[in-house]
This record gives sequence, structure tokens and C-alpha cells, in this order.
Amino acid sequence: MQSLIQQYREGFDRAAPVLGSEVAVAAYAAYRMPATYAAVHTALRHVAALAPGFEPRTHADVGGGTGSAVWAASAVWPTLREVTVLEQSPSAIAFGRRLARRSGAAAVREARWQQVVVDRTVPKPPADLVTMSYALGELSPAAQEDVVRSLARDARVLVLVEPGTPAGHARIVAARELLVGLGLHVLAPCPHDSACSIRAKQDWCHFSVRLNRGALHRQIKDGTLSFEDEKFSYIAVSAERWPRAESRVLRHPQKRKGLVMLRLCTEEGEIADLTVSKRQGETYRDAREIVWGDEWPPREPR
Ligand SMILES: C[S@@+](CC[C@H](N)C(=O)[O-])C[C@H]1O[C@@H](n2cnc3c(N)ncnc32)[C@H](O)[C@@H]1O
Repeated sequence: MQSLIQQYREGFDRAAPVLGSEVAVAAYAAYRMPATYAAVHTALRHVAALAPGFEPRTHADVGGGTGSAVWAASAVWPTLREVTVLEQSPSAIAFGRRLARRSGAAAVREARWQQVVVDRTVPKPPADLVTMSYALGELSPAAQEDVVRSLARDARVLVLVEPGTPAGHARIVAARELLVGLGLHVLAPCPHDSACSIRAKQDWCHFSVRLNRGALHRQIKDGTLSFEDEKFSYIAVSAERWPRAESRVLRHPQKRKGLVMLRLCTEEGEIADLTVSKRQGETYRDAREIVWGDEWPPREPR
């Protein structure tokens, strides 16, 4: 367990697969899978909110590990019917398959798990939804660009999720530039297709999701807290144009007496700070409810 934690904190040796043994896989499923599930689920919820007409039937998940993106996608889109997981580790596949049999969703239970070492081209079937979560960074830097290009081929919506670190965000920015260059449209989180301007602010775009830790999870992580916050960066692109958010909240809103301060990424591609005061009535009430990662202004009454 400690070696897995260390590898995820400090980086790892690409020559030795992280999920290379049954013990490592079981440790991953207990230590990381709840968090990667929560991150992917949040990113996919953002996508679904912006693309209500997107009702995927087919899903390909690449570097799927024990299947967190498969579970997350089927929770967001019950329309899914055919799911394919591409994964290099036989131990991860065996674990993911066993777990998937317990799902209430037929698409998860009946997912096809294929043992594949992805190298530049991804032998995935055409799919409405393609995901790759927490796996791009495990590929060699030389392979990442080709893999992203290959993932985008024949996908209606492609979602990449990476750790919410400066390095994870840098990979997302590089993939975003490439995908926009291929003519795809950014669906989320950015409300624009222009260059990402957050790095000029010495910052990186990431989001946070809070998840409960059960007793086993607390024990494994040597932690006493009953929750943890998973930070993640992501990009969702589509061949189609969907109505985008007007702006996206990039930080926990700061709340002072009678004021809410929001840091936003805007549709002009700028990072802007907005202060909403109590005098603004309904707008203020909306701002009090808004959380990091939401659209601003909210699309639906909250
Ligand atoms: C950190 S895990 C993420 C698993 C899962 N997507 C999630 O979000 O929990 C990275 C996964 O990518 C897989 N992976 C890494 N390089 C790969 C490659 N070249 N081909 C196929 N799978 C790969 C690893 O075996 C591992 O299961």
C-alpha cells in the first residue's frame, strides 16, 4: 500500500506497471478508485448538464484500470448499452470484471474487457463516449499526443481526466490544444475554444470533489478524517457544438458578509474576478449556492 501511495505522490517507473499484481490492484481499488470515480463522475455530470441531447449508447474507456470511469459513465448516462474497457493489466481486468458483475446496470455487468497495451494508436471501437481517466500521464510523453489524436477518432464526446496538479493540468492543456486544432469543440469545463489563459496567472485549472471515507478507507489511508477532497483537471470535447457555459467557477467562492467573490473563466477566454453583493438580490442568492466547478450564472434555478 505504501509503495502505491508513494508512486502516486512521487511519480513512477514506466517500465514497471503500477497495477502489475493482484495486491497492487486490490490496494488501488481501495485507496484510489473511490476518488477517481468521484472525479470522473463530476466531470461527466458537467458534460451531461451542457449536452442534454447527448444520450450515448456506446462507451470506450482506455486505461480503464478497475473500471471507475465505466461505473461513473453508466451512473450519468443510463442510455449506455455497449461498453469496452481497454487495459494493459490482467490483474486490473480480473478485479474490474468481478466488481462489474455486482453492478445494477447491464452495460457495466456486460462490459467487454480487452487486454491491450496502448502504444500510439488505440485499438478502440467507434464509440459515442470515449474516456481516459488518470492514465494519460502513465504513457511516455512521446506517445501522449498520438494517443490523444487516436482517442478522438470516431468519438462523439471525448473526456480526459487527470490529477488536479500542475503536471496533470499541463497534460490536459496540451491535449486541449491538439483537439481544438483537429477541429473539435470544447464542451467543458472551458466556456471557449481559445488558448487557456490561466497559466499566465501562475495558476492551473482544477476542480475538487469531496468524498466520504468509510472505515476501511480511513484505515488504509492512515487517516482520521471522514472525507477527502480529490482534485482533478479535465477536458471534454465534441465533434458537435453544444451550448456552452457562460463562465465556469475556478475556485471555492469566497464569502464575506454580504459579498460573494467568484473567480471565473469567461467565454472570452479570460480569467475574471466577480464580486456579487447582497444588493443584487436573486443573483446574490444564486452566488451563495454556487460551488467550485459550477457554471456561472447557473443554468437551472437551484
Ligand atoms: C491510475 S490508473 C487509472 C485507472 C482508471 N482509469 C481510474 O480512473 O481509476 C492508470 C491505468 O492505466 C493503465 N495503463 C497505463 N498505461 C497503459 C497502456 N499503455 N495501455 C493500457 N493501459 C495502460 C494502467 O494499467 C492503469 O490501470
